[in-house]
Amino acid sequence: MTPTEIESIFAKYHKPNWGSVSVDETLFIRDLIDRHKPKSFVEFGMASGLSCALIAKAMDDAGIDGVIHTIDHDDTFFGDKTKPNGFLIDEIYTGSRVKVHKHKFKRSIDLDDLDLGPFEMAFIDAAHPHPWPLIDTLFVRPHMTGSKTVIHHDLELFTKQRVVLGIGPKYVWDQFPESARQRGEGGASNIFSVSLDIDDATFERIFCDGILLPWTSQLGPMVVHRVRKVVERTLSKRALDAFNEAMIRFNAPKK
Ligand SMILES: C[S@@+](CC[C@H](N)C(=O)[O-])C[C@H]1O[C@@H](n2cnc3c(N)ncnc32)[C@H](O)[C@@H]1O
Repeated sequence: MTPTEIESIFAKYHKPNWGSVSVDETLFIRDLIDRHKPKSFVEFGMASGLSCALIAKAMDDAGIDGVIHTIDHDDTFFGDKTKPNGFLIDEIYTGSRVKVHKHKFKRSIDLDDLDLGPFEMAFIDAAHPHPWPLIDTLFVRPHMTGSKTVIHHDLELFTKQRVVLGIGPKYVWDQFPESARQRGEGGASNIFSVSLDIDDATFERIFCDGILLPWTSQLGPMVVHRVRKVVERTLSKRALDAFNEAMIRFNAPKK
């Protein structure tokens, strides 16, 4: 896709406040797809389906016979409540090389049950309060293969909020070593990618440091149960201790 093609898709389909990737951010994702040629892709945060359709087009253009799984925790598009999530996907992506599967009423914490992977690339654009982007990264990690490239949207969201809730992507960005992260340039500075092709000790340090930063959303008992399970399975006792300490500090029941 050229910038002109992407711009014409946005002119036809995109509306303000739809929370979608921008043209420049689409080019950032397209360049990663061209470089790594992922055959399997997972997206968290389907919404209208605009980003999913653009990812499918970019994979198709790169000559990839692949699959994209797009996941959302509900099925009402927040930008137009008369529409289901993903309603734009079939309108925009009409190719056949890339198979698109929509998973509604699901979250990253359901990945183990869904059994969809492994994925070579992921796009995390779901819940932005901390610790959700870190949790999404934690849950997708055991399902990643190949380049293990994970893209996060809305790095700059916190700069636009007087009451800062959407700090999650910024906290993920800050924990990764420079050698394992890449931020978009120019008009794409709101998006970044991290490589999960890093050693276990480095990821564990990222998780422990990140989870102990102040949370801006509370986690329910079922999410907490699943986080503990994945931490026990994929990280060490130190990470579980850090999560339990974060629970005491930031997730105590409100009095
Ligand atoms: C910013 S929108 C995604 C925009 C889309 N990626 C695009 O660029 O066109 C965020 C979406 O994430 C969904 N969402 C919020 N929290 C979620 C969670 N924990 N897991 C999965 N989806 C979630 C919302 O329903 C919403 O549709």
